[in-house]
Amino acid sequence: MAGCTDLAYRLISRSYGMEFCFLEMVSAEGLIRGNENTGGLMETLPEDKPLGAQIFGCRPEAMGEAAKKIEDMGYDLLDINFGCPVPKIAGKGAGSALLARPDEAREIFKAVVKAVKKIPVTVKMRLGVKDPSGKEAAAIAKIAEECGMNAITVHGRTREQGYSGNADYEAIGLVKATVKIPVIGNGDILSGADALRLKKISGCDGVMIGRGGLGNPWIFRQVEHALQGKPLPQEPGFEERKKALLKHLDLELTYRDEQTVVCQMRKIACWYFKNLPGAAEFRGKINVCQSVETLKKLIEDFG
Ligand SMILES: Cc1cc2nc3c(=O)[nH]c(=O)nc-3n(C[C@H](O)[C@H](O)[C@H](O)COP(=O)(O)O)c2cc1C
Repeated sequence: MAGCTDLAYRLISRSYGMEFCFLEMVSAEGLIRGNENTGGLMETLPEDKPLGAQIFGCRPEAMGEAAKKIEDMGYDLLDINFGCPVPKIAGKGAGSALLARPDEAREIFKAVVKAVKKIPVTVKMRLGVKDPSGKEAAAIAKIAEECGMNAITVHGRTREQGYSGNADYEAIGLVKATVKIPVIGNGDILSGADALRLKKISGCDGVMIGRGGLGNPWIFRQVEHALQGKPLPQEPGFEERKKALLKHLDLELTYRDEQTVVCQMRKIACWYFKNLPGAAEFRGKINVCQSVETLKKLIEDFG
């Protein structure tokens, strides 16, 4: 997730049971020009595995070339973004715009499948541009399968819906029923029960968690237990949350300079304390905090 799933996020999530993670999306054109690794966007470590990389773009040759580069860089999976609704990306014919362009989609899939030899190639999409039935996604999924793509992830909303309403798990089921390759369902998983419901309604083969993992690394084990029919682990208490957040802060400090961390932690700390009593007051304080020392003290004193 752009701006969220950096190295520190991934490492802390893995320590709490996350099984597979993606880098935030990178531009295929930027990657082949050699300027996409700036700012640590693609930074990783041996313990940050298995790890997928995701590219966006719309020129088949560039997508193929970028995909090959991702494989050569040692990532474990290459995903193509067919879901991003942001005008900066969709407005240029990439991301969710490709859901309405089956011919271009086919050329992109063909180029990527041809270029990548060893790692799985997948595509992540929304239900469609405007039509919420899932028919548009199903048609693109079929093309992906015909071209040799290995799996598909579907976020159960259209581009037009943005993040409004609820993800439609039945519409994800339409995609699942259309192809034989694995379909991973995505959208609004905030608990083990949500994951079970998504799997039951859509028949999907796996689930992907986005916003539910922000400041909540415990969700990964909860979902794993729910899907395996094991008793659910206990919800974390106040102290456990603080401990995890301080660990997250330490990890951020290992990879970034102090000033960047202070800015980044304003967002991250609020994820961890969301909906807890005192969270609004905490947000006010952390937003004006200027040093790591004060930041740590604010976290320690919370609650
Ligand atoms: C801040 C933010 C950044 C995101 N960045 C990406 C991205 O880089 N690539 C992608 O495929 N989806 C991205 N998404 C979409 C999520 O992966 C996911 O499909 C969506 O949030 C729905 O799932 P959720 O309800 O579990 O969050 C992003 C979403 C958010 C909120």
